[in-house]
Amino acid sequence: MGVAEVSEDRISEVLLTPEQIMARVAELGKHVSEDYAGRKLILVGVLNGAFVFLADLIRAISIPLEVDFVAISSYGAATRSSGVVRIIKDLEKSVEGKHVLLVEDIIDTGLTLKLSYIVENLKARKAASVKICTLLDKPSRREADVHADYVGFEVPDKFVIGYGLDHNGLYRNLPFVGILREDTDISTRPECAGE
Ligand code: IMP
Ligand code: MG
Repeated sequence: MGVAEVSEDRISEVLLTPEQIMARVAELGKHVSEDYAGRKLILVGVLNGAFVFLADLIRAISIPLEVDFVAISSYGAATRSSGVVRIIKDLEKSVEGKHVLLVEDIIDTGLTLKLSYIVENLKARKAASVKICTLLDKPSRREADVHADYVGFEVPDKFVIGYGLDHNGLYRNLPFVGILREDTDISTRPECAGE
């Protein structure tokens, strides 16, 4: 039995097939390679959700690059809107003089990126530039003024899982992006915004 079959009962629809994802990741990689040619590039993945996308994206980029990770935490939606968002895992590398591409799995409300001041933080560490690349964008849910420079796919206002995205820590291993069945209790989502 494959992974897809194991989780099939929790998925109402396959939104993006592995083939669609890989084709789009190849295009994004090509754009990034062109846009950053001749520049010092560092990709910063936002843990945990971005790690699958990041792993494929770097292999679609043909120019030299470094990789690092951050983890951002919030303590649930209520505290998040009150601004309690922390960087719980910092970069290992210096970004001084480097062009940073922040890699996210999905931008939903945008509050995690906004309230963590991650972009301002990277700029304060003298990054040459900071841009955002997200696999998925849910613009209909946006509450904070966050704009992604590279977007894989726009998705509807549904809870999606797979290809790094989880529900309660599960389903990250699905090779596709699917819509979680409506009768699943998403109020039990992990409290870590970076999840
Ligand atoms: P924000 O609302 O833009 O702050 O999104 C915070 C984080 O919540 C994202 O980086 C994801 O890790 C997670 N998230 C938001 N929407 C979904 C979803 O539909 N499926 C799985 N995770 C999600
Ligand atoms: Mg995330």
